[in-house]
Amino acid sequence: LTLSIHESVYSRRMVHFFSEIDPLNAALRQMTAQYTSVFVLVDENTQHLCLNLIQPALPSLKIISISSGEQHKSLDTCGQIWSLLTAYEADRKALLINLGGGVITDMGGFAASCYKRGIDFINIPTTLLAMVDAAVGGKTGIDYEGFKNQIGLFREAREILICPVFLQTLGHRQLRSGLAEMIKHYLIADGGAFYQFGQSPIAPDLDAIRRAIDIKSSIVALDPEEKNIRKKLNFGHTVGHALESFRLQTTQPLLHGEAVAYGMAVEALIAQRLSLLESGKAKQVVEKIAAIFDLRPLTPEDMDGIMRFIPHDKKSESGKIRMALIDDIGSCKIDIEVSGGDVKNVISDFNKIMEIYAP
Ligand code: GLY
Repeated sequence: LTLSIHESVYSRRMVHFFSEIDPLNAALRQMTAQYTSVFVLVDENTQHLCLNLIQPALPSLKIISISSGEQHKSLDTCGQIWSLLTAYEADRKALLINLGGGVITDMGGFAASCYKRGIDFINIPTTLLAMVDAAVGGKTGIDYEGFKNQIGLFREAREILICPVFLQTLGHRQLRSGLAEMIKHYLIADGGAFYQFGQSPIAPDLDAIRRAIDIKSSIVALDPEEKNIRKKLNFGHTVGHALESFRLQTTQPLLHGEAVAYGMAVEALIAQRLSLLESGKAKQVVEKIAAIFDLRPLTPEDMDGIMRFIPHDKKSESGKIRMALIDDIGSCKIDIEVSGGDVKNVISDFNKIMEIYAP
């Protein structure tokens, strides 16, 4: 068992990596032995595609199934989870296993953290995005009154189990969406990994996933509550999140990672405009991301949408736009003030480049 578990920098105890499902199950059996009852939170997708992979290890597992999708990351759904835990008479020594993507790990972590003032939870992320981002780092929460992650708290999972076997259940677009956060981690902290990336096929191997998680975990370990350097993890997200929010209101929504891919390309060009990043390096970033994510010029509606949503960014203070921007491939600076005019001009520059490079 110990031979098949590799611990990451962050966790030293918390994140465990498995290339096969059997050792994951052996570890899970051990990790759950001390609890009075064990619950698993799934949605209809992970109930159908993933639960059968872990259920044999935990014969008395109680299943809490909720509807999939961001619209169900709500207080109502938490109420359903708490009602079931109550009906099953779960006590403070109960355990919740969150088996799913970011919605499941965020909301399951939150529901577990509030139930009887906090029971333990284990995250088993089943999407690439959740493996390299949502499931790691202790951010839990739900959406409220139209705002993402409006209610929540920082609380670490007891354990996080990573196994690429779950990725076989994902479609191409979903997998690629997860790649964006991996590439972001490389861009802010490991230039070598960024340059290497892309020679491998779209489904990344365990080592590439582990490297991305190690970067995130090392940053989170230094700043768990995002008071300073954890903000580096927001590179690509000021523009990316604004574009994602705008597109959600249209008939052409983007997956989170797809929006972040646009965000990283545009923000690399903003860094160049502010003389933080050499133009040759900005070009390398934009070209590589455009090729992997098949980026296209942004429309005038996208540009207006981005400019409308950017002031709502969580990093904005007193009406000023602040971004985390790379100053090299593998290095990032936080709290850089950027004007709305700079963002607009750079989107026009981005479109000119896309007209040349996009196939
Ligand atoms: N997703 C960014 C963070 O966990 O800080």
